[in-house]
Amino acid sequence: MKRRARDSRSLMILVLLGPPGVGKGTQGELVAGERGWRRIATGDLLRVAVRGGTELGRRAKCYMDAGELVPDELIVAMVREALAGADADGVVFDGFPRTEAQAAALDEVLDGLRRPVDRVLVFEAPEPVVVRRLSGRRSCPSCGAVYNVYLAPPREDERCERCGSELARRSDDEPETVRRRLAVYREETAPLIAYYERRGAEVLRVAADGTVEEVRCRVREALGRTGSSTAAARSRRAGHL
Ligand code: AP5
Repeated sequence: MKRRARDSRSLMILVLLGPPGVGKGTQGELVAGERGWRRIATGDLLRVAVRGGTELGRRAKCYMDAGELVPDELIVAMVREALAGADADGVVFDGFPRTEAQAAALDEVLDGLRRPVDRVLVFEAPEPVVVRRLSGRRSCPSCGAVYNVYLAPPREDERCERCGSELARRSDDEPETVRRRLAVYREETAPLIAYYERRGAEVLRVAADGTVEEVRCRVREALGRTGSSTAAARSRRAGHL
């Protein structure tokens, strides 16, 4: 990762975990925007690759359409590349890591910077809430803005407020694919909560039902918490590294 005058000890590394549709992307954008941090969202990077018809996009598309995870080696290479261009005080990982192999690869990269994962926010909401959010989600294929026809509709029907493009439903938001994505989350990604707890990272749970603004306040509160728990987490982690 390129670092100019800042040194890597002041770099904040935040990982967002949670099932599909829980609001990681929505809150991740807000956190990154407020603090000037870089957000690395592997789902967004993959969709750009699919739209661009790149080799990565062609290989990833069938996994994404089926609600399965894209192979670790493709994801890790993509994240390494994204990190190489990052120059910010913080990085928000949204949708990465998703497997223990990806988490170990991230640890390896961060070990090189002598900078472990600082905090993990685990977004939690009842399954019917996330299913409803996914069924109403519409995205702008041009600029990536996200709306929800039930919960945060665009002012003009099915048109992006930022760029005017026609909004689209993500192909993996069909009910059957959503069921598979939720199962994959439970099997492959939820165990990372215990992984990070074992590593001594500060793992904080955020209730993600409620409005975007309510969740944003809880996220701010979680990120504002410093002091003894962080210091204790750091010293526990020092024993691990
Ligand atoms: P990805 O794009 O990462 O999908 P995901 O993790 O399943 O998460 P989503 O984007 O569906 O939901 P979100 O939690 O970000 O919710 P959002 O904020 O959009 O991954 C897609 C696919 O790519 C994967 O299935 C896999 O194939 C592949 N992939 C990606 N990363 C990978 C990796 N690391 N390894 C392997 N494969 C990988 O919100 C959802 C909706 O709800 C929106 O409409 C939003 O407006 C609305 N909303 C959000 N918050 C609220 C709220 N508080 N109240 C009301 N509405 C809300």
